[in-house]
Amino acid sequence: MKLSARLEAVANMISTSVIADVGSDHGKLVISLFESGRISKGYAIENKKGPYNRLVKEIAKSKISVDNVIPMFSDGISQLPTDVTTVVIAGMGGQTVIDILKSHKEKLAHVKYIVVDAHNAVPEVRKEVCELGFYIQNEAIVHEDEIYYEIIKFAKGEQKYLDDKDFEFGPILRTSKSVEFKDKCLYRIAQIDKILEKKELPEERISKLNSEKERIRQVL
Ligand SMILES: C[S@@+](CC[C@H](N)C(=O)[O-])C[C@H]1O[C@@H](n2cnc3c(N)ncnc32)[C@H](O)[C@@H]1O
Repeated sequence: MKLSARLEAVANMISTSVIADVGSDHGKLVISLFESGRISKGYAIENKKGPYNRLVKEIAKSKISVDNVIPMFSDGISQLPTDVTTVVIAGMGGQTVIDILKSHKEKLAHVKYIVVDAHNAVPEVRKEVCELGFYIQNEAIVHEDEIYYEIIKFAKGEQKYLDDKDFEFGPILRTSKSVEFKDKCLYRIAQIDKILEKKELPEERISKLNSEKERIRQVL
């Protein structure tokens, strides 16, 4: 199964053999990881009937045994099996990611890695997942369909001190200053400039946008 660039970047962060993909939808990620031999077992978790039924069909179509790619109809990590060593949460809003992890944090006892692709509130995700006893081990940026996605791999252990800029831009991303990171920063500056061209913006908004622009310039 061919993955999008975003899901391929998520897949590239996976280094253990038993994963749970929370919010699996079509199940593409788990099916592809199993077919390519990168995992020995994957739980595909869905909490909505429509996606869950689609997931079951996709697994059946792939001819993979349900002992290897296991569909689960459950909420977040509430029923997380104890053999799971990597939890993946991709394609969701940051607050949903945080709620899923924090509402059943006891289920993370056996989990070594959490891979997140949150589509907003990424600084909050960094902060909250670190507070759950994980540190940021790897980060990547993917540009697909005019959107920049930040993929973060957390590993169990203590996070060294991070400042506000680390949380906002990513401690690894902002140090590596990759082409994708620079492009993302320049893209955001251009977006801000466009917004600032609008007439009758409230002073408070103008000041917030200008200070965001300044923070971006400092990490470029
Ligand atoms: C936008 S899709 C992302 C699918 C896939 N992970 C990806 O990145 O392409 C989000 C999926 O998460 C599921 N979802 C949202 N909250 C969930 C929860 N608490 N537990 C399980 N699944 C959830 C939704 O039903 C939906 O299928």
